[in-house]
Order: sequence, then C-alpha cells, then structure tokens
Amino acid sequence: MNVTKLELINFRNYEKYKLENLKQKNIILGDNGTGKTSILESIYFGSITKTFKSSSDSVVIKKEKDFSVVKIELDINNKLKKLEVRITENGKKTKINGKLKKRLSDYISTYKVIIFSPDEIKVIKGTPQNRRNYINIQISQLNKYYITKLNNYNTLIKNKNEYLKKMYLNKNLDEIYLDIIDKKISELGFEICSYRNEYLNKINNYISNKMKKFKENSSLFIKYNSDFDGLDEEKIFRLLKKVRKKEIIMGVSSVGIHRDDFEFIYNNQNAKEFCSQGIQKLIILSMKLSENELLIKDYGIYPILLLDDLFSELDKTNQNKVLKNLSKQNQIFITTTDLNNIDKKIVNNSNILTLKD
Ligand SMILES: Nc1ncnc2c1ncn2[C@@H]1O[C@H](COP(=O)(O)OP(=O)(O)O)[C@@H](O)[C@H]1O
Ligand SMILES: [Mg+2]
Repeated sequence: MNVTKLELINFRNYEKYKLENLKQKNIILGDNGTGKTSILESIYFGSITKTFKSSSDSVVIKKEKDFSVVKIELDINNKLKKLEVRITENGKKTKINGKLKKRLSDYISTYKVIIFSPDEIKVIKGTPQNRRNYINIQISQLNKYYITKLNNYNTLIKNKNEYLKKMYLNKNLDEIYLDIIDKKISELGFEICSYRNEYLNKINNYISNKMKKFKENSSLFIKYNSDFDGLDEEKIFRLLKKVRKKEIIMGVSSVGIHRDDFEFIYNNQNAKEFCSQGIQKLIILSMKLSENELLIKDYGIYPILLLDDLFSELDKTNQNKVLKNLSKQNQIFITTTDLNNIDKKIVNNSNILTLKD
C-alpha cells in the first residue's frame, strides 16, 4: 500500500500544493523552513487525522485561513483509493472515495504510518500524559473500538469527579450513583488496561532484539505501570470501593487507567533517569522498528515510514542498521537538508523531491 499522490490546501506553510508520482522511496530535500516536516506531517494527518507535533490539531491550519485539507491517493494492489481530511476550528470531516464518513473510526488508519522524528524522544522524556497519548494512538491504529472505549471511560471519570465534588459540599448525597459509575469504570478500565498490556507485550516481543542491533549485549523492555494491572473487573471494583472515602475528600478519581504510565527499562535501569540522550534516541528507534515489525509479522501490513531529519542525527553505520531493518515493501519518506548526509546507495535508489522557498 503506497501513497502515490498528495494534495494540500492551507496546510501549514502550503496554500496549494501537489506531489504526484510518489515512489517506494522518496527523499524530500530542502533548506530549513521550506516545509519538509510539514509534508511528512500531512501524510501522518491523512492517516490518523492528528498531528504528531502538538496536542492540538488545528495548528496545521495555515495562518489566517479557517480550514485545511489533505487529499491522499493510495495504491492498494493497483487499486486506487482516494482519501480526504478537512479540518476547521470546529472539527474534522473525512471522506473515502468521495463518501463522507460518519465516524472518525470508519476512516482512521486506512493506511498505517510510523513517524521517526527527533521530537519523539518526548515519549521517554515527557510526561505520563505524553506516553498515554502515544500508546493510545498506536492501539487505535490496530483496534477500531479502542478510542470510543477510551472516550467513554474519560466521560465517566469526568462525571465521577463532578459528583465527588458535589458530595464533598453536600454530605446528604448518596453513594448509589458512585456505585453505578464505578461499576462501569471497572468494566471499561479492565478492557482498556488489557489492550494496553497486550500491545506493550507485543512490542516487547521485538524491542530487545532491535536494540541489540545498535548496542550488543544490551537489554530493553517496556514496563507497564497501571493501578488496574493484574486485576479483573471485580477486583477493580473492590479497589474503587476501598479508595472511595479518600476520593470523596479529595474530590477526584484517584485510581484508574487515566493515571497509567510506562517506562523503558534499559540494562535494568529506567531510561528516563539513567540513559544518555544518545541511548534514548536509539531506544525510540528500536521502538519504532518494533512497531514496524509487529505490523508486518502479526498483521501483514506494511506501514508507511516517515523519517524526519533522522539522518542528520545518526552516523552512517546506524543509518544503515535502521535501513536494513526495514522491509523493501515499506514505502519510505526521508527528509534532509543535505543529500551528503545520506548513504549514496539510498540516494541513488530514491525519488528526490526538492523544495524551494
Ligand atoms: N500553521 C502555519 N501556517 C503557516 N505557516 C506555518 C504554520 N506552521 C508552520 N509554518 C511554517 O512552515 C514552515 C515550514 O516548516 P517545516 O515543515 O517544519 O520546515 P522544515 O521541516 O523544512 O524545516 C516554517 O517556516 C513554519 O514557520
Ligand atoms: Mg523539519
């Protein structure tokens, strides 16, 4: 599955822009600020309808405009599929082959993407929220129902918090409503926790071997930390009951998958605290390579790989290790300011798109 054509309207610095005849391997060449990352971002946006650069998606809208459109043509075994995402301040609309999709879940992940970008180091260095967002996007690419479940869970937490605050002020309110809501939280929380556990286990099947390609004799795995880990629905419900008094006093839901986190354990140590930036970058690369292998081996899907400025960050030996670990069937987009940063063999086999101011 390849992106063969890309059309942008009011997306970042592009007012109207078209790229046609995209190939298996594409290098996007241009000086800083010419819009290389924005092209990768638009390919990501066309799949996930989100940006990887910010928690708000409307930032992609060109300044002083009120909408953006990304149109993608996909070649799926010689069959053409046309995709379109339109975003305004009020929301998003998606189309497949001209037909409006009622739900985002009917659109998302028509093609899969993996972004390799220096910013992704935030998955290690950033907040638990950064990591939860990351894993949510990963799982939603594999499971259509995940995001709906997560949204429903978050609505429950919001309602529960409001009620807890009311209870604190009005001691006469009863706990029956909390019982009902906690029951639902146990059900959904159990499911979401299982999905996350399962996903991280799958990545863990690959990640240590990927890291060993960069650092021999190293070990790496992702450790999932969740209040609900290892508990069934009933035990979760009992846990919620146990913390209820405290929750009424604090006015917030104190346990649940909305507080989940995960950590990278490199050579038995927490990578966030103990690893150099260099190792942290290799950990992120190993995770991305694992995601690719997971999609290929477990799902038979070849994701589109977006390699942003990666080659300015890696020496040629590690570049080649990364590329050797990709499949010939992965469509690849590489950005660079200088072709000399990239191994000649790759340059010679690529379609080169040059951006100008
Ligand atoms: N919403 C926006 N509207 C208009 N221009 C934008 C917007 N967001 C970013 N830009 C501009 O787009 C340009 C291209 O950015 P980028 O794609 O990151 O370039 P590159 O990756 O080639 O360095 C930058 O000059 C940036 O200021
Ligand atoms: Mg860039």
